Amino acid sequence: MIKVSLRRHFFVSENLTMRYFLILALLLTACQQAGTSSLNNVKATAVPLRPTLSPQQISLGETVYVQQCASCHGVNLEGQPEWKTQNEDGSFRAPPHDESGHTWHHGDPTLLEAVYAGGARFADMNIGGTSSMPAFADILSDAEIAAVLTYIKSTWSDDIQAIQWEATLREELQDEQ
Ligand code: HEC
Repeated sequence: MIKVSLRRHFFVSENLTMRYFLILALLLTACQQAGTSSLNNVKATAVPLRPTLSPQQISLGETVYVQQCASCHGVNLEGQPEWKTQNEDGSFRAPPHDESGHTWHHGDPTLLEAVYAGGARFADMNIGGTSSMPAFADILSDAEIAAVLTYIKSTWSDDIQAIQWEATLREELQDEQ
């Protein structure tokens, strides 16, 4: 079992929280090579190896991306025009998921929360704007949510993937403390 805990507790039911753990587990163990450590061993081993991205997940994820995400985040993951500027109604524009955006600055738990809960994750926070990002917890299956993040990662260079993996480990370690 992977040990993770939620840093922010906005989930409404235990059921949904369980799903969050399942999807995170899918992401962290997908296609892991035999003999590599999981986050379970994060304290026992120096650096857990980055899981290899599964071609099946990438392929499913691309389909999900085109159907559910591209309308806002762009077919080429380029985000909305002038995405750093807020709309007149105070809402944020959809950022790119390519290397020009900041998706790769975040670890898997943060990205998963974004897809899972959408703009609702900011409900109790003052972040200086609103987000129309839909919550996909009830729209996509666990496998589809894991797959779409895997697809996005697959478009990044190896260096960027490595940095994002380090962010995932950092977030996990924080959670355990
Ligand atoms: C209706 C428009 C819309 C759709 C559709 C949409 N998003 Fe978003 N998304 C946004 C907006 C706006 C933001 C910026 C505000 C925020 O973080 O909630 C965002 C932010 C994000 C973030 C956080 C990025 C970061 O660096 O903080 C992720 C991850 C994300 N979206 C993934 C997805 C995925 C995956 C899909 C498809 C399953 C999707 N989005 C569909 C509008 C959308």
